[in-house]
Amino acid sequence: MQAHIRKVCIRQGDKPRNAPAALFTTDADVLLDDPEINVVVELIDDADAAYHIVRKALSSGKAVVSANKRMIAGHLEELLGLQQKFKVPFLYEAACCASIPVIRNLEEYYDNDLLRGVSGIVNGSTNYILTKIAEEGLAFPEALALAQKAGFAESDPALDIEGTDAANKLSILLLHAFGILTSPSGLLCFGIDKLGAQDSTFAAENGYVIKLIARAQKLSDGSIAAFVAPQFVEPEDKLCHVDNEYNGVVIESSFADKQFFYGKGAGGLATASAVLSDLSALRYQYSYEYRKLARGTTHELTNDIYLKVYAGFEDAKNATDLNFHEEWTRQKTESGISVTGLVHISQLLEDDRWRRPGVSVVLLPDCIVEPQLVVAQEFTVAGCELGEL
Ligand SMILES: NC(=O)c1ccc[n+]([C@@H]2O[C@H](COP(=O)([O-])OP(=O)(O)OC[C@H]3O[C@@H](n4cnc5c(N)ncnc54)[C@H](OP(=O)(O)O)[C@@H]3O)[C@@H](O)[C@H]2O)c1
Repeated sequence: MQAHIRKVCIRQGDKPRNAPAALFTTDADVLLDDPEINVVVELIDDADAAYHIVRKALSSGKAVVSANKRMIAGHLEELLGLQQKFKVPFLYEAACCASIPVIRNLEEYYDNDLLRGVSGIVNGSTNYILTKIAEEGLAFPEALALAQKAGFAESDPALDIEGTDAANKLSILLLHAFGILTSPSGLLCFGIDKLGAQDSTFAAENGYVIKLIARAQKLSDGSIAAFVAPQFVEPEDKLCHVDNEYNGVVIESSFADKQFFYGKGAGGLATASAVLSDLSALRYQYSYEYRKLARGTTHELTNDIYLKVYAGFEDAKNATDLNFHEEWTRQKTESGISVTGLVHISQLLEDDRWRRPGVSVVLLPDCIVEPQLVVAQEFTVAGCELGEL
């Protein structure tokens, strides 16, 4: 690749570096105002500073490669507009699942009409934590400390464990999969921060593994349900076997059925591989065309679905006032009680009582139930695949 690094902008000027000092600056404008720089690679962990850098770079006609999912998801619409206005490519493959080429595949290969769903483990840090808890019996804080030491966690680990990072990635995936432009803050998002020992016990007793899943699923009326939440995954599911910092994405389409992408979702080298691929694509003027969005999408996001939910309550009193549409099981556990049942997604979105301390929410396998099935009362305990509970 005929690329030449002219300058590197960093935050701390006095930190030791493994390259000549003359290469570095702490002033981003040195790069942004240099007319000979035609590509800016933005890989900083400060989303606000990144936004200003990317905005100025695009507005100055410079192509941009970024891995900053938080910044991208938070400003998608504006960044799309800047690309169109200044006719410069903005590529960000590393922002979703680091080394897995999921964005470019969704963008180029999967036709809108055939795509039925995208679901995946898109956050390497939380997957690493969940693996350490399930396989080594570590407590949550120990597992988080290990993830941070290994360099898999975001500088602010709340972004990982509260599910925000996965929601940011889901909003980017929704754009490239279904042409839906939406803010991550509007998506249902539960993280792994409230999970406790009783949830791990429930998983082990039922042969499940808990994974944090981001999901976008086309419903029978063509609308799309999208959310991030921990889920009990069965051994037959490919995602069950995605461990540690690895990510996995299942793409479901009408003819090809399910296809599975697997690879490292965190870590410097894995992320760099996607950044290099984007840089290389700039050689042949590649840019996202957002065809699905441009076509005028027939897909709309919907919040009219029911979810099969398990909830763990450290304090049994907290389990009395929550709105299950149907309750299937209620079990006493060593550390509280657990309840399974059917809940409308609007309850989970709007009622903060699901987010109280000591309350954990995990979705059951095959978690989406379309409303017509519930209204028609075709959905019964016998048919809900919970026989083994
Ligand atoms: N690491 C991963 O696994 C991974 C995977 C996918 C995406 N990403 C994304 O990649 C980005 C970087 O993550 P990272 O893990 O590489 O972070 P990192 O190791 O903490 O490195 C961040 C770098 O950004 C520089 N920086 C921070 N604020 C700056 C500012 N205002 N101006 C100039 N430079 C600034 C820092 O400079 P100093 O060295 O001077 O402090 C540092 O070199 C983030 O957006 C992250 O979400 C990371």
